[in-house]
Amino acid sequence: MKIRQCELEKVAVKKEQYPPADLPEFAFCGRSNVGKSSFTNAMLGRKNLARTSGKPGKTRTINFYRINDALRLVDLPGYGYAVASKKEQDAWAKTINEYLESRDNLAELILLVDMRHEPTAKDKEMYAWILENGFAGLVVATKADKLSKNQRHKAFATIKKALNVPYDDLIVPYSAVTKENVDVLWEILDDMAAY
Ligand code: GTP
Ligand code: MG
Repeated sequence: MKIRQCELEKVAVKKEQYPPADLPEFAFCGRSNVGKSSFTNAMLGRKNLARTSGKPGKTRTINFYRINDALRLVDLPGYGYAVASKKEQDAWAKTINEYLESRDNLAELILLVDMRHEPTAKDKEMYAWILENGFAGLVVATKADKLSKNQRHKAFATIKKALNVPYDDLIVPYSAVTKENVDVLWEILDDMAAY
């Protein structure tokens, strides 16, 4: 997709604050610090539109990015940030759940996993939910730049097995540093948006 225009259209916590459900949306979920906001920037070809941080727990709102008046990318807060208080973790879970349960125009919920690490119990739970709810089950394996060819091979197999990914093409290794597979991911999203 050639990005002619993109903007941070809305920052929301509650559903009353969401933009109208008038365009297909692709939302990114995953652990805190896995690279969801960096992925948003890489897909948009922008350095800093989405705020990123080396410290987990950076994104605490649902951020809607509108692209070409054709679709939206939705950067969700991460889960599993252990240092957060129970109250904060509950608030984030509520924010994410409300979005997932109410958004009819969600075209795909994309799970991001750090390619260097084994998926967590929460990742598995999320992925099962994604398949149960009829989504394709696209997995983006982030930080691929940090792995050797051999490590990558192993990591791919580990992710496939841990999450029970139905077929190989659903796992796309990617890097915000090298921009590897950003074009491939846009092709996939374009197809899904047209579907
Ligand atoms: P929360 O908002 O806390 O949920 O985190 P997030 O998932 O949005 O992560 P974010 O994009 O803020 O990135 C976390 C850290 O990982 C930052 O220091 C990024 O620079 C780094 N990072 C993200 N993607 C990549 C990647 O593909 N390769 C490398 N090497 N670092 C990355
Ligand atoms: Mg973030």
